[in-house]
Amino acid sequence: MSKKQVDFESVLKHIYSELNKEADRGDVASYIPELGKIDPKHFGIHFRPIDNSPVGIGDFSTPFSIQSICKVLSLAHAMQLLGADLWKRVGVDPTHEPFNFLSLTEKGNGIPNNPFVNAGALVICDMLYSQLEKPGKDFLLFVRNLSSDNSIDYDKKVYESEKTNGFRNHATASLLKSLNNLHNGVEQVLDFYYLQCSLSMSCEQLSRSFYFLMNGGKNMAGQEFLSPSQAKRLNAIMLTCGFYNDVGGFAFHVGLPAKSGVGGGIIAIHPRKYCIATWSPGLNQKGNSLLGIKALEMFTTETELSIF
Ligand code: DON
Repeated sequence: MSKKQVDFESVLKHIYSELNKEADRGDVASYIPELGKIDPKHFGIHFRPIDNSPVGIGDFSTPFSIQSICKVLSLAHAMQLLGADLWKRVGVDPTHEPFNFLSLTEKGNGIPNNPFVNAGALVICDMLYSQLEKPGKDFLLFVRNLSSDNSIDYDKKVYESEKTNGFRNHATASLLKSLNNLHNGVEQVLDFYYLQCSLSMSCEQLSRSFYFLMNGGKNMAGQEFLSPSQAKRLNAIMLTCGFYNDVGGFAFHVGLPAKSGVGGGIIAIHPRKYCIATWSPGLNQKGNSLLGIKALEMFTTETELSIF
């Protein structure tokens, strides 16, 4: 699959041993108090090629809070249920603003720029809330089916912790409601959003769940979750919007469609080749995992396997 013969296990061992020495690991997100308690020393990587054995290193099987990474899963489910109608209520353009930038909903008459900024993710949650009979249970079932893993669950402590501190998200949802782009109640949609963000998964579970995005929409069990065209679009949105105001920097350094979360996780996809998940809870100035980005940059450089 590579332009050159690559021994992935030794590449990952090298990256892990180099980066694990680093004293500066960034700062854990403390605006969600429960996340502030996480040990910044955690570090794990899980690499899953499309047609070969996976490789994991470090804390790759320890579950952590996936936070905004859930926005990709939520968008995938909305694409399944609503098809192209979804794009009437949310755009597909990058913002170059932080994930929680408030005025994004004002710019386009209540149409958020993309589904990954919080305003857009809240609109997607609202759509799912209208479609699903039991939103929390049904969404979890969707994720479990996607990954063929029934052990995946929400972390209720993280959910409660974010819920009691979500003032900015409350403002965003209220703004969306006032601009007629939220059909359900502000509290109901926020509640569902916080639940999704509290999903707890390991790097190994992430790479398993995101297999469908490197495989034209089919998961590891061969079930079609999205059409190849929808998978292409979702990867495109990850590439252009997955890192908010650091999307250019991430493409420049790593060169893969990817999504980050403030829990310190990153999932990156090389369509038709591999997906790779990293976890290191310390974040850089722009709120993305410091070691995770460095690990992915080393990986695509050493293997020569980026999309560019
Ligand atoms: O809305 C929030 O603040 C969080 N639940 C999710 C933030 C997040 O992970 C942003 N992405 N990197």
